[in-house]
Amino acid sequence: MQLSLENIGKLFLGKEPGLFLNSLDKLYQGVLPGVRAYPINIPGFTYHYALQCRRKLDDIFWMELNKRKSKNKNKVETIDLMDGLMQIEDDDGDKLSDKEVVDNIVSLVLGGYISTSLVSMWAIYLLAKYPNVLKLLREENMAFTEGNSGDFITAKDVSNLKYTNKVVEEVIRMSNVAAFVFRKVVNEVDYKGYKIPKGWKVISMLRYIHTDPENFKDPMYFDPDRWNELAKPGTYQVFGAGQRLCPGNMLARIQLALLLHHLSIGYKWELVNPNANIIYLSHPAPMDGVEVKFSQL
Ligand code: HEM
Repeated sequence: MQLSLENIGKLFLGKEPGLFLNSLDKLYQGVLPGVRAYPINIPGFTYHYALQCRRKLDDIFWMELNKRKSKNKNKVETIDLMDGLMQIEDDDGDKLSDKEVVDNIVSLVLGGYISTSLVSMWAIYLLAKYPNVLKLLREENMAFTEGNSGDFITAKDVSNLKYTNKVVEEVIRMSNVAAFVFRKVVNEVDYKGYKIPKGWKVISMLRYIHTDPENFKDPMYFDPDRWNELAKPGTYQVFGAGQRLCPGNMLARIQLALLLHHLSIGYKWELVNPNANIIYLSHPAPMDGVEVKFSQL
């Protein structure tokens, strides 16, 4: 969690680890369960608490926005994503309103760090359960490091790590961080003989398509080599589909690949509770939050 927040904090907000990011972390942890909770806005309910945290996040980002506006009155400088949102213009030269900047940055930070930290957690869990995969991952990344004369890996190098990229895809498929998405029917749909009337709300169960043996052979088996072939069209929607396709999909993949690189060349680890039960709401995760014992290689 901490690592993803620090990455996103730097990229999106230009912040170093410290008090500011720690307070964001606490508030986002409060917002997250509310995203998939029943919308009961009464004290004591998850949704109510999430709304309170969301309001506090709005306050923090409004303060940040005003600070930046007074500082940057005369200079136009893009340092991070928040500056970018404040400056971006459409074809008519119109900028986002202040409220739109705040709304966007609150959602982007949420989307950016929670999902990445969840897939990172699943990567650690799955690799501990499948040492055969970790071995191949380590071999590829060790070979890369030796060939790179000890220089740090960059985001550009990631595309050359073929096996690592397959591990990334398989981790994201199996973690099902966005297990379902909500949609409203805008035109009546006829689906396999069922009529879904206009105006109905539907839940699209993404986890179902990613764990259907029709789409993925032996779906609960963690097998990066299944990515030697492309998934059948429509069967892989980890980042959603269509107009609302996740804008952070490449960032998430690169961050995960970099984490796998550093973990596999530097560490070994084992699960403290390999048989921990899995919870599914608000997001799938082993109940112990994946407690691990790490040691250096
Ligand atoms: C493995 C990590 C991630 C997964 C599995 C994931 C998954 C998804 C999915 C399924 C959607 C579509 C939701 C819908 O259709 O209702 C979505 C949307 C979105 N994601 Fe991600 N995401 C990930 C990482 C990120 C990152 C790193 C960012 C930060 C840039 C991000 C920002 C967003 C935003 C802003 C949306 C809303 C897009 C819109 O409504 O137009 N996500 N994500």
